[in-house]
Amino acid sequence: MTQLAIGNWKLNGSRQMIAGELTKIAEAGLDKNVGVCVPFPYLDMARLQTEGCQIQIGSQDVSRFGVGAYTGEVSARMVADVGGVFTLIGHSERRSYFSESGDILKDKVEQAVAAGLYVIFCVGGDMTVRQSRGAVEHVLDELACLREFKKECFAVAYEPAWAIGTGLTASADEIRAMHLAVKEYIGQSVPVLYGGSVKAANAAEILAIEGVDGVLVGGASLKADEFIAIGRCARVS
Ligand code: PGA
Repeated sequence: MTQLAIGNWKLNGSRQMIAGELTKIAEAGLDKNVGVCVPFPYLDMARLQTEGCQIQIGSQDVSRFGVGAYTGEVSARMVADVGGVFTLIGHSERRSYFSESGDILKDKVEQAVAAGLYVIFCVGGDMTVRQSRGAVEHVLDELACLREFKKECFAVAYEPAWAIGTGLTASADEIRAMHLAVKEYIGQSVPVLYGGSVKAANAAEILAIEGVDGVLVGGASLKADEFIAIGRCARVS
C-alpha cells in the first residue's frame, strides 16, 4: 500500500510561510501521497501556490454543519470549494480543547464525505488510558462512529496524546499492535497512519513497522527540509 505523509501545521503559518516553506515542499518533487493541512485562511493561497505540483492540500477540521446561521464556522463544502481535497477530523487537540464528542465527529465526517473530502480520522488516548492498558478498547471505541461510512472515504491516524509534541513516540510493538487492531476492527483496506513526535530522524523506522500506512506530522512539518525528508521515507507503490 502507498504510504501517506501528512503535515499538520496546527495554529501556525502565514502568507510568508506558504510562499516559503510550503512552496519548497511543493517543489521537492514529492508524490501525491504527501499532503499538508494548513489553517483555513491559507487554503486558497496554498492551493494556488502548489498548482502543478503533486502534493495535496487539506484542512485541519470542518464544521459539523453544512450551511446557515453558525457564526465562525467553516464548512466542508467551502474547504472543497477552495481546492482542499482532504481534512483531519477528531484530532486529540479538538477532542480535548474543544470538547468534540463522538456525535459531533460523526456529523463532521458526514459533512466531509458529502463534500467529497477524504477524511483522516484521528484517534488516540492519553497516558491514563495507556497505563490502564485499555488503549486498544479506547481507540476502537473512538472509531465506532466510522463504521457506517464507506471504507474508501477515510484513513485513521493513531496518535497517542502523550506522544504529541513531546518528543516521545510509542514503541514499535505498541504501534504494530494498535495498527493491526484498528485494521481488524475497521477493515484491512483502511490506511492507518501513526502520529506523535514523528521527525526526519525516526520516520523511516516508524514507516517500516508492520501495519503503518503513513505518518501524521505536526511540529516537524513546519520546516520544509525536515518534512521533505519525511515525505521521501513514505513508500509509493
Ligand atoms: P507532533 O504532532 O508531530 O508535533 O507530535 C502530531 C499531531 O498532533 O498531529
